[in-house]
Amino acid sequence: MAFFRSVAALSKLRSRLAQQSTTLGSVRWLQVQSSSDLDLRSQLQDLIPEQQERLKKLKSEHGKVQLGNITVDMVIGGMRGMIGLLWETSLLDADEGIRFRGLSIPECQKLLPSAVKGGEPLPEGLLWLLLTGKVPSEEQTDALSKELRSRSKVPDHVFKAINALPVAAHPMTQFATGVMALQVESEFQKAYDKGMPKAKFWEPTYEDCMNLVARLPVVASYVYRRIYKDGKVIPADDSLDYGANFSHMLGFDDPKMQELMRLYVTIHSDHEGGNVSAHTGHLVASALSDPYLSFAAALNGLAGPLHGLANQEVLLWIKSVVEECGENITTNQLKDYVWKTLNSGKVVPGFGHGVLRKTDPRYTCQREFALKHLPDDPLFQLVSKLYEVVPPILTELGKVKNPWPNVDAHSGVLLNHFGLTEARYFTVLFGVSRSIGIGSQLVWDRALGLPLERPKSVTMDWLENYCKNVA
Ligand SMILES: CC(C)(COP(=O)(O)OP(=O)(O)OC[C@H]1O[C@@H](n2cnc3c(N)ncnc32)[C@H](O)[C@@H]1OP(=O)(O)O)[C@@H](O)C(=O)NCCC(=O)NCCS
Repeated sequence: MAFFRSVAALSKLRSRLAQQSTTLGSVRWLQVQSSSDLDLRSQLQDLIPEQQERLKKLKSEHGKVQLGNITVDMVIGGMRGMIGLLWETSLLDADEGIRFRGLSIPECQKLLPSAVKGGEPLPEGLLWLLLTGKVPSEEQTDALSKELRSRSKVPDHVFKAINALPVAAHPMTQFATGVMALQVESEFQKAYDKGMPKAKFWEPTYEDCMNLVARLPVVASYVYRRIYKDGKVIPADDSLDYGANFSHMLGFDDPKMQELMRLYVTIHSDHEGGNVSAHTGHLVASALSDPYLSFAAALNGLAGPLHGLANQEVLLWIKSVVEECGENITTNQLKDYVWKTLNSGKVVPGFGHGVLRKTDPRYTCQREFALKHLPDDPLFQLVSKLYEVVPPILTELGKVKNPWPNVDAHSGVLLNHFGLTEARYFTVLFGVSRSIGIGSQLVWDRALGLPLERPKSVTMDWLENYCKNVA
């Protein structure tokens, strides 16, 4: 009996090792699991103790290792390049771009389950990957899809809270209001009030995050239909996956739009921890504010034009180019328009980045989507022309560290092509997607018992005196 047990254990280990990728960084097993592994929460339950041990060991063995010097530039320059956060779900390389748990975007497109053979990844698969560090099987992805549907009921008071705002209120204001109204149902807050011990915090956090991810498309599409479609709400279609159903509730049933939504939600989900929305969510949650409070704060950061609102700004800007110069704009006319924008003191939206120093792979995969599905779209052609025209101009300015396009330079023209033309709404889509990354990390924040965030600030006086003393 013992022999059979050890043979079984050995063959399990061998098949796991065979599935292990050498190139996938923190993704440890590319497993195909049996039906008993369909429950994401129980998978997490198994994973957490080993990760807690890992962190404990890191702290005790390497706690005093230096990670670099802090300079005055960093302190007054928005903490660029200063390592200061633990963020497990993704890591950003300045040249290569984002990796989700070790996987690049092309690897996610290849490895994560899709609805269409060879098509875009299902966001549910990415959620599984971000939470567990493992690539899910199709069955696991499907089970998670079902679980999200079962959690998607939004209480009536949320719609009433949104309705209390003028229809003309910015879609992000209406969306964040909806998230705050969802907070009333926070499991974390209820458990905390009852005195739940710290070791169990991750459990109600998981419930809140999964409910949040599940409910956001309903709230977001309500906001869209309220503002732009006379309030005619489209009910969910329970036969559809997360991305397709979101597209459906917005009013778009074209299979290509469904594919776009799956890609959109996947690539906007996470961009390591230091960006404004992710960092805000993490910071607020570090005070043990529940996931709804934390995510609503994150959304308010996302609503800034230098961050998530840039996708709105890009399409409005591109449309203003067309309005002024027509669709068949020449390269010289386009150059003039870019200079006009810069000379008026504005940034060229969709270009530049706080960390990236090359073209954003999130831009590249959207470009590939456009080449495949809408190569003749005139606004896509204009976006392609901007790719040639803008980087040399920004380089000529001499101060821009990254002249290349980012994710927001492309997303608007794709949505616009399939009929989602209302640019002011775009950041809401970004927000729905961000819940997947921020929510996954919040679960790990609680599982790892990460502390209150409290960096030290100093005054100019302090800096001047300090520099005098070290000179
Ligand atoms: C993303 C962004 C905020 C990063 O800011 P950053 O890390 O401070 O970028 P840099 O270090 O390259 O900035 C240095 C200078 O170049 C300017 N710059 C950077 N990107 C620029 C752009 N796209 N157009 C014009 N000027 C730009 C900055 O405003 C700054 O000018 P200043 O010194 O006069 O204030 C910036 O590139 C930007 O404003 N881009 C346009 C908005 C956008 O697309 N945001 C979405 C990002 S995903």
